[in-house]
Amino acid sequence: APPTKPATSRPWWHRRRHELISLAKTQAPCYVYDEGTLRAQIEALRRLASVDRLFYALKANDHPDVLRLFYEAGLGFECVSANELAHVRQLFPDLPPERLLFTPNFAPADEYRRGFDLEAFVTLDNLYPLEAWPKLFRGRTVLVRFDPGRGDGHHRYVRTAGAQSKFGIAPAQARRLQKLAEELNMRIVGLHAHVGSGILLPETWAETALFLAELAETYFPDVRYLDVGGGLGVPDRTGLPGLDLKAVETHLHRFKAAHPRFELWIEPGRFLVAEAGVLLARVTQVKEKGGVRYVGIETGMNSLIRPALYGAYHEIVNLTRLEEPATQTVEVVGPICESGDVLGHSRRLPDTREGDVLLIAQAGAYGAVMSSHYNRRPPAREIFLPADAANPTSSVTPNAASV
Ligand code: LLP
Repeated sequence: APPTKPATSRPWWHRRRHELISLAKTQAPCYVYDEGTLRAQIEALRRLASVDRLFYALKANDHPDVLRLFYEAGLGFECVSANELAHVRQLFPDLPPERLLFTPNFAPADEYRRGFDLEAFVTLDNLYPLEAWPKLFRGRTVLVRFDPGRGDGHHRYVRTAGAQSKFGIAPAQARRLQKLAEELNMRIVGLHAHVGSGILLPETWAETALFLAELAETYFPDVRYLDVGGGLGVPDRTGLPGLDLKAVETHLHRFKAAHPRFELWIEPGRFLVAEAGVLLARVTQVKEKGGVRYVGIETGMNSLIRPALYGAYHEIVNLTRLEEPATQTVEVVGPICESGDVLGHSRRLPDTREGDVLLIAQAGAYGAVMSSHYNRRPPAREIFLPADAANPTSSVTPNAASV
C-alpha cells in the first residue's frame, strides 16, 4: 500500500464543496480547515514507528480548534516565541510541560526565562545567551540546536541550515559549548537540527539524526533526545507523489537500530495542516488588458503571501463551476496595490464571473498565520469545519469560533 493517500484520490473539498459554497456566501474571504484531513495527517505520522515524540510546529497554523485536535491526539507543541508558548498554555492549562518545546532564535533573555518558568524544553541556538546571560542558564537543563551544514527546502528563504545560515551552532563550536555547559553546571539532554521546510527527500531526517548522534557521542554524554526537526513536505499539485513516509521510517529505523540509546523527536508543521486548509474568495471583477485576462478576487497577498514571497504554487479552482470545462487562461489577482499580488499565473478556469467562489488549495499551512492588514484590508477569517455526519471521524465538540 502507498505510504500516504494515493496520488489519484480527490482532495476533501470536492466532497464538501456545497458546504463551502454556502459558507463563502456569508463568510468569504475565509480560510476553512477540514477536521477529517487533520486527523488523517496525524494518523499518517503515527506510522513513523521510530519516532518517539511528535511536536506540532504551531507557527504553521495556530487556530485554537486545530490546536485542540492535536492536543487531544497527544501531540506536543513546538513554539518559537514566548507568545506561542503563552497561546498554548492558555488554551490547554493542563498540558504537561514535557509536551512544550521552545526553539526560538535571536530571542531576548526574557523569553528564555519564560520558557524555563513554564518548564518547557528550551533549545539554545547560539552560544551568546550563555556568555551574555550566564545566570539565566546556570543549573538548567537544555537542548541545543546545531547546524548540519547543508539546508534544504522549497525555496531559499526556508532553508535553515548551511555554514552562513543564521540558525544553529556550528559543530566546530561543540567543544566551546561543552566547556561553557560545564562552567554553568548546565545539562544538555538533547540535540536539535532543522534543515528547512518543504522537503520530499525521505533520507533527510535519518541523516540529521546521524549528524546529531555523532556530536552527542563525541561531546555530550547526557544527550538522550535527538530532535531531527520538521520540514516534511507535501506536494503542491494534485497528482504529484507525496513524501514517501514508509521510506522515511525505513531510514529512521535503520538509524535507531544502530543507536538505540536515543529518543527520536520530530516537529512538523506543514505536513499536518497544509492540505486541510483552503482559502475561499469571491470574484470581484474581471478585466482584459494587453492580451491578458485578469480575474480579481476580494483578497490577495494580505491573506496568502506565499505566492508573492516564494513563488509558491497553490492550485486554484472555480468552486461555483467545478464541473464546467476550463475555457480561459487567466491571472488570478488580489485587490492589493502591488503588481506582485498574484495568487495564480496562467491558470485554466471555466468562464468566470463576478460572485463566483474561487478556492485556493493547500492553504492550511503558513496562510492565515502570515497574513496582514496591508492596505487596511482585513485578512481572511478562519473557520474550522468539523467532520460531517456522512463521514464521522470525531467526537470533538467545536468551540464558539467554529461553525
Ligand atoms: N522546526 C523549526 C525549528 C522550524 O523553523 C520550522 C519551520 C519547523 C519546525 C516546521 O517546519 P515545517 O514542518 O512546517 O516545514 N513560511 C514558509 C515556511 C517557513 C518554515 C519556518 N520554519 C512557507 O510558507 O513555506
